[in-house]
Amino acid sequence: MNPPEQGSGTLSHGTRVPESTRLYRRADQLIAGRTHLFGRRAELHAQGISPVYSHRQQGCRLWDVDGNEYLDFNLGAGSVLLGHAFPSVVGAVREQAASGTGLTVNHPLEIEAAELLAEIVPCAEMVRFCKGGGESDMVAVRIARAATGRDKVAFCGYHGWHDWYLSANLAPGAALEKHLMHGITPRGVPKGLLDTTLAFEYNNLDSLRNLLEENRGEVACVIMEAARTYTPDPGYLEGVRQLTRDHGVVLIFDEVVTGFRTALGGAQEYYGVVPDMATFAKCISNGFALGAVVGKREIMQVALDSFISSVYWAEATGLAACKATLQEYRARNVSAIIQDIGHSFMKGLSGIFGELGLSFRVIGLPSFPAMVFEGVPAEQNAAASTLYLQETAKRGVIGGPGFMFCMQHSQADLDQALEKIGEALEVVGRALEEGDPVKYLECPVKQSGFRRLV
Ligand SMILES: Cc1ncc(COP(=O)(O)O)c(C=O)c1O
Repeated sequence: MNPPEQGSGTLSHGTRVPESTRLYRRADQLIAGRTHLFGRRAELHAQGISPVYSHRQQGCRLWDVDGNEYLDFNLGAGSVLLGHAFPSVVGAVREQAASGTGLTVNHPLEIEAAELLAEIVPCAEMVRFCKGGGESDMVAVRIARAATGRDKVAFCGYHGWHDWYLSANLAPGAALEKHLMHGITPRGVPKGLLDTTLAFEYNNLDSLRNLLEENRGEVACVIMEAARTYTPDPGYLEGVRQLTRDHGVVLIFDEVVTGFRTALGGAQEYYGVVPDMATFAKCISNGFALGAVVGKREIMQVALDSFISSVYWAEATGLAACKATLQEYRARNVSAIIQDIGHSFMKGLSGIFGELGLSFRVIGLPSFPAMVFEGVPAEQNAAASTLYLQETAKRGVIGGPGFMFCMQHSQADLDQALEKIGEALEVVGRALEEGDPVKYLECPVKQSGFRRLV
């Protein structure tokens, strides 16, 4: 066996966040892979400046273990749409926890939460719960394979960590480079899965058409996000829908991020294109663990004949959180509130780029836009991004290049964040003008790919 290097030599000293840094050094010795979510590794941020641990979150704010306060535009990688620790959701969980979590026989909450999803999501005739996004995708792929009797999966974008997905990188050409990140080795993924998961390009119908032609009769499902950083060209999603129908392939929308924020019924409602199945997690339960696979009855019911089973999937606190959360989304029209917040934020950010004379752009949907450092020389990009993270962390803002919103971001919060982001971008702009962003860094340049981390 050839274990990865410990890499502890790469952990820099904390200057602004000493307690976070102390905990991270302990994690380096105790937690395999250092963090449970890749994106929470300190090396991906302004190390020693950005917070690594937080023990309190409320509304749109969090406090790190060093006592610093932040306006949060990451919100648990987009898993919190009502705001952290939202009272009705916390209340439902607390009440349920006190009444037991229902693991010996089934809990009626699974029927109630499933009924809500079936009312809200256009393609949802049947529902299956699990505990997260990657897991939902895994279950959906299994069901699609069982329903079609085919093995291959066509994908676009990010869909978790499981073998079916990472096996895309067994083939030469590192397919995940364009869909996930640089440097993913399929270490530990069975080589027998070679050529079972095939990538296609977003907004390029020919790419999917050719894939389906070349693998005619072998593809079980197409799994994709309807929109992410880029939005669909006119007719693209309709074209995907038609192609999958023509080839007898199950179309799965991964709505782990788009779900409930683009529209109550997800991207499928927003774009009016209904897939055969969809997967949800994250803000389905506003910060509590739950995932869901939904879809058409004739496909979903093959779950009766495929062994898909786990004790904690339908434990009742996650379901109580889901029920309370979905009721709030519906009663308050939360997706519309999120769109308004996003529009206002995008307008403000574009204004800042103009004022500072930066060629940066803000793209994507208002419910989760992204900032693109356009015009920055490739060799300066990582340093410029680190500088942005350093300067925003120092000013009490977490967010960017991607931004997530919750219902509790007030206009005053947005104005405050934009002011701080503007100050940070002013430093970034000055550093770029001088051609040397590293000079302004008080921390190491952040890492971006995977390989350098081990
Ligand atoms: C589109 C998409 N699918 C799946 C996942 C994986 O979800 P989880 O981290 O809950 O396993 C993510 C996580 O960011 C995601 O963005």
